[in-house]
Amino acid sequence: MNELEQLTRLCANLGAEPAAAATMAAQLQKRATQLAAERKITREAAMHYLLEVLVKARQGESPESISMNRPALSLREKLITRFHAVFGRGPAVITRAPGRIEFIGNHTDYNGGTVLGAAIDRGIWVGLAPREDGRRRFASELSETVIDLPADQLEKQTGEASWTNYPLGVLAALPEFGLRVPEGFDFMAVADLPLGSGLSSSAALEMSSALAFLEITGQHPERETVVKVGRYAENHFVGVPCGILDQGVSGFGQKDHLVFIDCRGPEFAVVPMPAEARFWIFNTHTKHALVDGLYAARHRECMEAARLLGVSQLVDISPEQLAAKAATLPPVEAKRAKHIVEEIARVAATKTALAAGDLKKTGALLTASQRSSQTLFENSTPELDFLVDELIKQPGVFGARLTGGGFGGAVMAMTDTQFNDERAQVVAKAYAARFGSAPEILQTRTGDGAAVVSAS
Ligand code: GLA
Repeated sequence: MNELEQLTRLCANLGAEPAAAATMAAQLQKRATQLAAERKITREAAMHYLLEVLVKARQGESPESISMNRPALSLREKLITRFHAVFGRGPAVITRAPGRIEFIGNHTDYNGGTVLGAAIDRGIWVGLAPREDGRRRFASELSETVIDLPADQLEKQTGEASWTNYPLGVLAALPEFGLRVPEGFDFMAVADLPLGSGLSSSAALEMSSALAFLEITGQHPERETVVKVGRYAENHFVGVPCGILDQGVSGFGQKDHLVFIDCRGPEFAVVPMPAEARFWIFNTHTKHALVDGLYAARHRECMEAARLLGVSQLVDISPEQLAAKAATLPPVEAKRAKHIVEEIARVAATKTALAAGDLKKTGALLTASQRSSQTLFENSTPELDFLVDELIKQPGVFGARLTGGGFGGAVMAMTDTQFNDERAQVVAKAYAARFGSAPEILQTRTGDGAAVVSAS
């Protein structure tokens, strides 16, 4: 057996799935060579060290005691292992924050409206340890490159380093809320959330970063403040004029519940999710080339519609008032405003239907939201429309809609417990026949909001 085969077997014994074990083994080989060069030690010693770390991360168990049927390394273990491998020590603080599903309330948040979302059981984990040399070093599982920045500068990054704009944005935001920032540190992020798929990996990274920076500096502000820090980072550092939905749901999520946000306050509450509902995500992996510009354009059109209607935000006008004044608006602003005011009404109707346990009605409202996105807000795409049309033909699907900003990304379907992978594959096959590649399918559950996790 050669070294790669031996390492693959070891990783499998430690609980990794076969494909993941082979990848981990190849990474170990690469990292051992790098570490040997960096530390001027033999490759054998470097490998020995890495393996020790890997095994230690299994919380002290010896490889022999671990059954072959164990699940893959948990994200926490993966984070600790990678932190050791890259920074040569363990994290002092670990945090995690979930991605989110936008259940209903499309582009209502920055219009002062209401929205319902769910934190999911996938997210981003951050490990952090202080440094004394005034350097901030950022690493992730997605790249071998460590981004090394001075602590006395906060500049927007581009290219390979652009993912660090989310934690850097949080560092820029904290003082705006009267909070201190840590100086130097080593930072590592790992995730089980598909990136760029409309599940808001950016908010998950902001929230996990914010909690880590706060924990390491011994500050414990109210959850609402942490959520606002995340949004501020996105608005003022990353430069997206988003509302509070993504950070609010990631921050206030609760398993088996939806988060209800009245974005005017903002006020956050949770409502129970009927136990017999399931969520399926169909990620198209498509993204409009101009997605950020299009999001900003919708934001501008909504603000302009509000101005022309003489209100400060579209939430201040009812569907009936709008109908009476719609003819005075230019066609584009009229359509955008109609989507927003009707969508806010749909959020209220959905809340009522959920409280009555009426999943059929809830599903119909979800699909109605999609139709409004298609025709009025024009933030859907042929791929998203196709998925919704195919999904709602399937038995067991209550309703489906695009989730998040739109212009690509993912569709969410709410189903009964009978809907299964076989039925999901019928939809995936039809999609592949039409668009040439299958969507990524995730069955997700609701999960808890962002939290500090023990690092020891
Ligand atoms: C993105 C934004 C949110 C919200 C949704 C659309 O996810 O980040 O603030 O506007 O789009 O509802």
